[in-house]
Amino acid sequence: MTTDALLPSVASFVSAPKQLLIDGELRDAADGRTFATVDPATENEITQVAQAGAEDVNRAVASARRAFEHGSDWNRFTPRQRGRLMWRIADLLEEHADEFAQLEALDGGKPFVGARDGDVATAAELFRYFAGWANKIEGTTIPLSSETADFLAYTVREPIGVVAGIVPWNFPLTMAAFKIVPAITVGNTVILKPAEQTPLSALRLGELMLEAGLPAGVVNVLPGFGDTGAALVDHIDVDKVAFTGSTAVGKVIAAAASRNLKKVSLELGGKAPNIVFDDADLSKAIPGSAHAAFFNQGQCCVNGSRLYVQRGVYDEVVAGISEIAKGITVGSAFDERTDMGPLISDEQFSKVTGYLEAGVAAGATVAEGGVRVGDRGYFVRPTVFTDVSEQMSIQTDEIFGPVVTAVPFDTEEQAIAAANNTRYGLAAGVWSRDIGTAHRVGGRLRAGTVWLNSWHADDVTLPRGGYKESGWGRELGSFGVEDYTELKTIIAEL
Ligand code: NAI
Ligand code: MG
Repeated sequence: MTTDALLPSVASFVSAPKQLLIDGELRDAADGRTFATVDPATENEITQVAQAGAEDVNRAVASARRAFEHGSDWNRFTPRQRGRLMWRIADLLEEHADEFAQLEALDGGKPFVGARDGDVATAAELFRYFAGWANKIEGTTIPLSSETADFLAYTVREPIGVVAGIVPWNFPLTMAAFKIVPAITVGNTVILKPAEQTPLSALRLGELMLEAGLPAGVVNVLPGFGDTGAALVDHIDVDKVAFTGSTAVGKVIAAAASRNLKKVSLELGGKAPNIVFDDADLSKAIPGSAHAAFFNQGQCCVNGSRLYVQRGVYDEVVAGISEIAKGITVGSAFDERTDMGPLISDEQFSKVTGYLEAGVAAGATVAEGGVRVGDRGYFVRPTVFTDVSEQMSIQTDEIFGPVVTAVPFDTEEQAIAAANNTRYGLAAGVWSRDIGTAHRVGGRLRAGTVWLNSWHADDVTLPRGGYKESGWGRELGSFGVEDYTELKTIIAEL
C-alpha cells in the first residue's frame, strides 16, 4: 500500500510520530521511548508511537484523579451535559467515519468497508446509546420500619472513580469505546491502554473527544505494551480495571488487582461451539456457520470455531462451508474485492500457522485452506479441519484465526456434552427448525451469549460476557451502567 491511497487527513495523521494523550495534551513519553506500529498487509512500519512508561502512568492517573475530584470541570457536568457531549462525539465519529475506517484498515488489516460500516458505526452507536443513559441512572426506595421508628431508605448510583481500560487489537476503536463510553456516561475518568499492535484509532478518538469539548484528563490515552497495562493495574489510585484480551492475561490482572481490591471486569477468550442439527435450514446454517467461523479474519472472541454437525447432514455442511471458504478473497484491506484481510501480527501469524501444523501432525484432515497466502503480510487461507478429536490442541485452544474444526455427532446429549467440554464459555449457537430443540439445547449451553439460527447478530443494547474462564461481569446494555457505578444505600430515621 502506498500512502496516496489514504485520505489526506490520515496521511497527515501517520506522517509524524504519535504522542501520548495526558491531561488534554499530546506529549512524548517521559523517558522518550517509542515503538513501531506495523501494517500487517505489508509488514512495513506505519509510524513510531510514544511508549508510556511508569512515569507516564503516574501522570495520567494523577490527571484522571484531578478530573474526577469534586468541583472539577467534569464533576460539574450535569448528566444532561454528559449525554449531549456524547452525542456530539458520535456525530464527529460519523463525520470522520472514512478516516477511522482507514486507520483500522491500515493499523489492523480490517477490510475498509467492514471497518466503516461495522467497527466505526458501532462505536458511534455506543456513544448514542449510553448518552441516553446519562440522565437515567436511578436508585430505588426501600420500605423500612421497626417497632420503634420509621425510616427512609434509598439507593443512589455513583461513579467508581479512575478507570483503566485495557484493550486488544481485534476491534481497536470499538473496544476503546466499550471501555470509555460506559465509564464517562456515569462520570468516571479513564486511562485507555490500546493494544501495542493498534494504537492509532484510539489516539485519534482521544483528539476528537477533546475537540467535542471533553475536559482535560477525563480520557487519557497511553499506548504501550503489557508492562504499561501492568503498571495501570498495579497503581494504587486506579479504582477499576476493565480488560478485554486473553484469558492468560486476565488471570494475571485479577491477581494483581488485589493490591487495593480495585474492581475488575474481564472479557476473555472463547472457543464457541456451533451445533447444527439434521433438521436445520441448511441454506441459512451453512453460510451462517461460515460467517460464525471466519468473521474478522477469525480474530473474534465470540466466533463459532468448533462446529458440531449431526451425522445425517455432516458431509453436506462440511462441503458447503469448505466451498464458501474456497470462495473467500484474501487480500489487502484497501482492495474492494477483499473479503478477508491479514492477521494482525507476526506473533498471531506464527500462532495460527503453528496450529495448522499441529492439527495435521495430530492426524486431522485439512478439508479446505490450511496455507498462508503470498510470502509477505500475515495472510492465511480460511481453513476447515475434519477428523478432529476432542483432545487435539486445535479443538481445545483458542486459535484466534480463520480456522474451524468440524466434528459429527449422533444425539442431542452428545452434542451438548461436547459443546460444554471447554474451559471457555463466551458464546455458543444452535441451528434447528424445531423451536423446542433450539431453545432446549440453547438453554443448556454454558455460555454468556447463545445464538439460535443466527450468528453475530448483535447490538449495543445487549449485555455480553463470559461463563467460566471467559471472564467476570457483563458489559453494555443496562449492565454497562451498573458495572461502572458504586451503589450507595442511604438510611434516614424519620
Ligand atoms: P493479550 O491479552 O496479551 O493483550 C491484550 C491487552 O492486554 C493488550 O493491550 C496488552 O498490551 C495488554 N497486556 C498484556 N499483558 C498485560 C499485563 N500483564 N497486564 C496488563 N495488561 C497487559 O493478548 P495478545 O497477546 O494480543 O493475544 C494473545 C491471544 O489472546 C490471542 O491469540 C487470542 O487467543 C487471545 N485474545 C483474545 C481476545 C478477546 O477478545 N477475547 C482479544 C485479543 C487476544
Ligand atoms: Mg500478549
